[in-house]
Amino acid sequence: MSRQVIIYAKSIKSHLSRLSRWGLKGTLFEIEGVEGDKSIEGYLKIVDFLIEQDFKKSDLLVAVGGGSLLDLVGFVAATYMRGVDVAFVPTTLLAMVDASIGGKNGINRPWGKNSIGTTYLPKKTFLDRVFLSSVPLEQLYPGYVEMLKIAVVEAFSTLNGHTKIVEDKELSTFLEGWEFPPSDKCIEKARALKQTIIDQDLNEQGRRYLLNFGHTVGHALEAYLNYRISHGEAVQHGMVVEMELLGFPKKVQKKIISFFPFKSPFPKIEPELFKNILLRDKKNRDGRVAFSNVLNHNNKNFLTFMDPQTVVEACMKRNTYDCLHTRA
Ligand SMILES: NC(=O)c1ccc[n+]([C@@H]2O[C@H](COP(=O)([O-])OP(=O)(O)OC[C@H]3O[C@@H](n4cnc5c(N)ncnc54)[C@H](O)[C@@H]3O)[C@@H](O)[C@H]2O)c1
Repeated sequence: MSRQVIIYAKSIKSHLSRLSRWGLKGTLFEIEGVEGDKSIEGYLKIVDFLIEQDFKKSDLLVAVGGGSLLDLVGFVAATYMRGVDVAFVPTTLLAMVDASIGGKNGINRPWGKNSIGTTYLPKKTFLDRVFLSSVPLEQLYPGYVEMLKIAVVEAFSTLNGHTKIVEDKELSTFLEGWEFPPSDKCIEKARALKQTIIDQDLNEQGRRYLLNFGHTVGHALEAYLNYRISHGEAVQHGMVVEMELLGFPKKVQKKIISFFPFKSPFPKIEPELFKNILLRDKKNRDGRVAFSNVLNHNNKNFLTFMDPQTVVEACMKRNTYDCLHTRA
């Protein structure tokens, strides 16, 4: 019988009794479970604890927390003794619909977020919406943004190239039911949609690039603002700009934007500095900025490339837009 070591986020302590119904019980180890834990120090703290506990290759590591904790523990699992089994219990919406799926893990260095990491799948993931009862409503926004992203990616993959159909016929049903706060059904659907893409392209050689929709501009914004913006908000702004750059029909853009939860305008940017940050993206080619080609990939061109000046100008035109809070 394998032993378990359960690494959990301090903020979910009151929910720990939920774990036994999945047979999860063992030695507990508490950490804050915040972005700051995704560090070399955070990594070594867990590794040292596992060594102290004589944790064996046949034992099971369990991660209970949000995306930060899953990224960190996933990285420990991938590297401790060259890989041990890990089970995930995601406790934030973002972790449920995004971070717990697809195996990406990692820690940060001052020169880059997620700059050290691997792709390593959990053996099992356990889902329980009850964890969300202790998450303030506004902290569900980042996960909700990722849910809308996957819904858009899916809609345009199915209707690839047929934007006219989306505009005229599908617009009334598009995103129907994806209201905030999200239903269990939508959470399950978002998970399944991401899983389908991962099953086709775990190592991000093609289709998985679609999941980066909104992230080229989003990541640049995060870096530009020194991470003083949440990832979810940055991705929301990124999707708004990238829809325009990719040529989404105006009516479709408006519809999608009306679901977005963050109400702040696109931050003011200094064009030259922002351009330099955009040019650091590792997916770029020949000085051109890479984007997820959500609209017209034809099942082969999952990335498209643009002149950085065009991207900066599109960002500067988007200083305000109508989102969830302003729609009638
Ligand atoms: N691996 C991936 O594919 C992937 C995808 C998306 C995001 N991420 C990563 O996820 C991280 C962000 O994750 P997040 O948004 O879940 O935030 P988080 O994990 O940083 O958690 C935010 C805060 O919420 C607390 N918390 C967690 N569960 C709670 C609960 N049930 N009730 C009350 N508080 C709770 C945490 O302890 C923390 O204080 C980032 O580091 C990002 O890079 C990874």
